[in-house]
Amino acid sequence: MHAGIDLQQAARDHLWLHFTRMAGYQDADVPVITRGEGCYLYDTNGKRYLDALAGLYAVQIGYSHGEEIGQAALEQMRELPYYSNWSYAHPRAIELAHELAQLAPGDLNRVFFVTSGSEANETIWKLAREYHAARGERRWKAVTRNLAYHGTTMGALSLTGLPSIRAPFEPLVPDVVRVRNTNRFHRPRHETEAEFTQMLLDELESAIISAGPQTVAVVFMEPVQNGGGAFTPPAGYFKGVREICDTYGVLLAADEVICGFGRVGAWFGSEKYDIKPDFIAAAKGISSAYAPMAAVIAADHLMEPFLDGTAMFTHGTTFGGHPVGAAVALKNIEILKREKIIEHVAENEGLFRAKLETLLDLPIAGDVRGTGFFYVIELVKDKETRTTFNDEESERLLRGYLSGALFKRGLICRADDRGDPVVQVCPPLIAGEKEMDEIVGVLGDVLPEAWKLITGG
Ligand SMILES: Cc1ncc(COP(=O)(O)O)c(C=O)c1O
Repeated sequence: MHAGIDLQQAARDHLWLHFTRMAGYQDADVPVITRGEGCYLYDTNGKRYLDALAGLYAVQIGYSHGEEIGQAALEQMRELPYYSNWSYAHPRAIELAHELAQLAPGDLNRVFFVTSGSEANETIWKLAREYHAARGERRWKAVTRNLAYHGTTMGALSLTGLPSIRAPFEPLVPDVVRVRNTNRFHRPRHETEAEFTQMLLDELESAIISAGPQTVAVVFMEPVQNGGGAFTPPAGYFKGVREICDTYGVLLAADEVICGFGRVGAWFGSEKYDIKPDFIAAAKGISSAYAPMAAVIAADHLMEPFLDGTAMFTHGTTFGGHPVGAAVALKNIEILKREKIIEHVAENEGLFRAKLETLLDLPIAGDVRGTGFFYVIELVKDKETRTTFNDEESERLLRGYLSGALFKRGLICRADDRGDPVVQVCPPLIAGEKEMDEIVGVLGDVLPEAWKLITGG
């Protein structure tokens, strides 16, 4: 600790915040969060916030397990503070790999550790390419969905389907093919779920055929897509995606950076939706973000070509499988099991949804969607026609009013318009009825104000 420095001044002088319009803090305080407890955070002024975003969709167990997890980290620091996974193993990496293989569905038994979700997706793309090459096929292209966020490193950003965060860095890694996501809110109302699924699958198949099926390495999909706002899959969708991938020899990656470790009320979205992916990208909830840790969990067959002769996966990082991160993740998983947190989400998701759906009485609340403890409220200008706000209105609504008003009321959630404008609600998985009521209460007060502001009515 540097006693005596002015945190506000030092933050302004030295700290560069992520995805942040820094000019906004020229005349306003940088929010400095100092302490966490349960689902709540506290700032330097002692003000309390309900963290309805779980850090960044990550702090599954809430903020009160520092003692226990800290003890596990301390013991690991004493025993072996660091060693790598380059040709060597260490006990915590082995134990965590074993644990993940037990938790992951099907034959997803091979674990390659990294340190972030971006890196996990980037690693999957490289692994898919080298896997195909080892089997004598040159396949390099990837397929991802509109508005999907897969990370910010150049490879992961290339997979990401959000034009606004890609544009400053183009040209990106070439040959990513984009297909529709599962947003059904703006589809024709007479379209049935089965017709919607078929349309999406036909489009995916056509995209693979147009790209040249023999050049396509891998399809990336989140079980429930966050970018654009908690798009759940329609019935039959993932069964069809798996079949199309099998037909064309394309691998399927489930980006479970958000969905994994209980967020959707199961250990993995792949289990909930029976996706049968070849890879899972895991991060965030793997350690409840108490330490940086992430993993690629790959099916047994992915490793087969690398088990022969001089073959190897030509990839690695210094911090991948860090023993302290692994010890923290193991302890987090122990807590998730001991406290029956996944069961708690599965048992309470209906209650949470029902409470959020009471907001649909408001003229601005067009849709509540999601699953588990992973929801959005989509904001609309006209409920009947489902008309959305234009860019100027959305800017005024979200950044001009909602983000600040929610924060002032002590509720951290995200007002996001990278797709159509939504408010994202994704609290720690330990949230109970009291926290749900607080979230709905604050939104119930603030959303009508937003409506007045934008309509003048
Ligand atoms: C679905 C998904 N994939 C990948 C990432 C990237 O993870 P990270 O920020 O750890 O690089 C994120 C981050 O929010 C994510 O939500």
